[in-house]
Amino acid sequence: MKVLSIAALSAFSLLTPVSAVPSQFVTTCTNLAASFENENTEVLSSTYVLEGTFIPSTEMCTATATTRANLCRVKLKVTTSSTSRVIMEVWMPTNWKNKGKRVIMSGYGAWGGCIPFGEMAWASGLGFAAIGQDSGHTGPSASELSDPEIFKDWVYRSVLVSAQAGKALTNYFYNTPLNKSYYIGCSTGGRVGLKLAQDHPEQFDGIIAAAPANYWPNIEVSEALYAHIVGAPGSPTFLNQAQWAAVEAAILAQCDGIDGVIDTVLENPARCDFRPETMLCGAGQTWELDGCLTVTQIETVKKIHAPLYGNNGRFIYHGVVLGGISSQGYALKYGPTVGSGPRDFLRYVVYNDTSYDLSSFNLDTADLIMDNDWFGAHSKSPDLSGLQALGKKLLVYHGLSDAIVPPAASYQYYDSVSLNMSLTASELDPFFRFFPVSGLSHCYGGNGASYVGGASQATYLPEALDSVPAENSALMALVKWVEDGEAPETLRGYKLDSTGETLGQKDHCRYPLRTTYKGSGDPNNRGNWECT
Ligand SMILES: *[C@@H]1O[C@H](CO)[C@@H](O)[C@H](O)[C@H]1NC(C)=O
Ligand SMILES: *[C@@H]1O[C@H](CO)[C@@H](O)[C@H](O)[C@H]1NC(C)=O
Ligand SMILES: *[C@@H]1O[C@H](CO)[C@@H](O)[C@H](O)[C@H]1NC(C)=O
Repeated sequence: MKVLSIAALSAFSLLTPVSAVPSQFVTTCTNLAASFENENTEVLSSTYVLEGTFIPSTEMCTATATTRANLCRVKLKVTTSSTSRVIMEVWMPTNWKNKGKRVIMSGYGAWGGCIPFGEMAWASGLGFAAIGQDSGHTGPSASELSDPEIFKDWVYRSVLVSAQAGKALTNYFYNTPLNKSYYIGCSTGGRVGLKLAQDHPEQFDGIIAAAPANYWPNIEVSEALYAHIVGAPGSPTFLNQAQWAAVEAAILAQCDGIDGVIDTVLENPARCDFRPETMLCGAGQTWELDGCLTVTQIETVKKIHAPLYGNNGRFIYHGVVLGGISSQGYALKYGPTVGSGPRDFLRYVVYNDTSYDLSSFNLDTADLIMDNDWFGAHSKSPDLSGLQALGKKLLVYHGLSDAIVPPAASYQYYDSVSLNMSLTASELDPFFRFFPVSGLSHCYGGNGASYVGGASQATYLPEALDSVPAENSALMALVKWVEDGEAPETLRGYKLDSTGETLGQKDHCRYPLRTTYKGSGDPNNRGNWECT
C-alpha cells in the first residue's frame, strides 16, 4: 500500500520536484492524532495517501477501493455509550478548497458494519471530504445488534455522531469552514437518509435517499412471511433461479409492450396485470421438459407479487415488483438464503435468543414487530416541514425492478408527505423530488438505463466513473440544486455493459410525471422519451 510516512516522503522528494508534494498538507495530516480534539472522539490513525492507492477492505467486509485523489486518510473512534462506539474514516483530498469545500457522508447497507470505501473514493475524487463509518459494529453480521446501544447506533445515532466529528475534523484540518454538506445512501442508507430529512434536517444541505428501506419493521415481517411462502430449496413451493428467469420472460411476454416499445424494460411495472397461469404445466408436462410450473409454484408467484396483510386485515407491505427476482432478488432474498435477514433480526434484536427459528413466526409476532418503535427505525414520518423551512433538499430515486425493496414504498412515502403537508407535487418540488428509475434493480444493476451516478453504484461498477461524466450524476445534480438553485427535472440514467461502456441513455422523469416513449426511434436514445 502506497501510504507515505514522513521518512518515505523525504526520500520521495529527492526524486521529484518539491512542488509535487504538498508538505504542509502532509504534516498537518500526520499530526492529526496529536492535535485534533473533539468530544468522545479519538484519532486512531492519519496518513497521507496518493491517488491510485489500493485500499483493502476492513475486517469481514468486501468493500475495497482505489483512491482517485491525493488525500489525508483519517481513522477515528467515536464513543456513543459505555458499550458502543463508531469506527469512522474521513478522506480529505488536497484540492478541497478549490472544489466547493464540500463534505459528504455515505450511508451503509443491510446490517451495516462496513465502511463504504468505494463511495468514499468516488466522492473524494470529486473533491469532497468523504465520511464513511461502520454503523457501530464490525462486519456485516447482525450478531452485535443484540446490545440496544449498538442497535441504536445502527438505526441512526452513528450517522449523527460521525457527521458531527467528520465536519469538525474537516473544518479543523483545512482551517477553513466547510460550505455545504451532503448525505448519500441506498437501502438501509436510504432509510437513514429519510430519517435525517424527517428528524434531523439541520444536519445536511442535500440528501440522496435511494431505494429507501423505510417502513423497516414491515419489511422484516414481509421477509419472514416470504420464508414461508417460498419455502426451502427443493420444497414444492420453491422456484429455482431458472424458474424465476422463466417467470420474468413470461412477464415481458405479457407486458413489455404496454409502454409502447419492446425493449425488455417495463417503464411502469404497476400497469402490468401479470397472469402466471400461462406457465401452468399441462397433463404430463414438466419443468425439465416443457419449462412449465406446478400449481403450487404458480401460487408462490402470485403470493410473492401480491400485497401482504396480517391480523384483522392489517396492511403489512407491498408485493414484490414484477420482473426483478431472477438475479439480484434470488441471490439476496428469494433463493437459498430466504429468511436469513428476519431470522437474524428476531434472533439478535427482538428476542436475544440465537436458537430462534422462523418456523415459530406468526402474525402475532408480526404485530409485535410492527408496533414497536425500534428507536424510530420505521423512518416514515410524512412531515418534512423542518426540511422545507431550512431550505434543504431531498432527492429520492428508486429502481422499478427492485425486488428487494418494492418501489411502491417510495410512491407511498411521497404521497404520504403530499397529504400530510397538504402540498401538491409542484409545491413539493422546491425541496422534495422523487425519481422512479425503470430497469434499475436494488441500488445498482438491472437491464435499463440504471446507472444514475447515485448511492452504492460506484462501488458496484467503478469503471463507470471513467466513462460517465460526473456532472451528469445524481450526486452532482443534487449539488447543483443545493448550490445553484437549479433543481433536477430528470435524472440521467446510463445503460452500461460490464466494462462501463455506454449502450444507451434515458432521462428518468420525476413522479408524478411519467417517462413516456414518443412512439418511434431507438429506445436507447434519450431523445426518444419525454415527461408527460
Ligand atoms: C443477550 O444474551 C446474552 C447471552 O445470554 C447476554 O449476555 C446479554 O446480556 C443479553 N443482552 C440483552 C440486551 O439482554
Ligand atoms: C403529519 O405527520 C405528523 C408526524 O407523523 C403528525 O404528527 C401530524 O399529525 C400529521 N398531520 C396531518 C395533517 O396528518
Ligand atoms: C458556498 O456555496 C454557495 C452556493 O454555491 C456559494 O454562493 C458561496 O460562494 C460558497 N461560499 C464559499 C465560502 O465557498
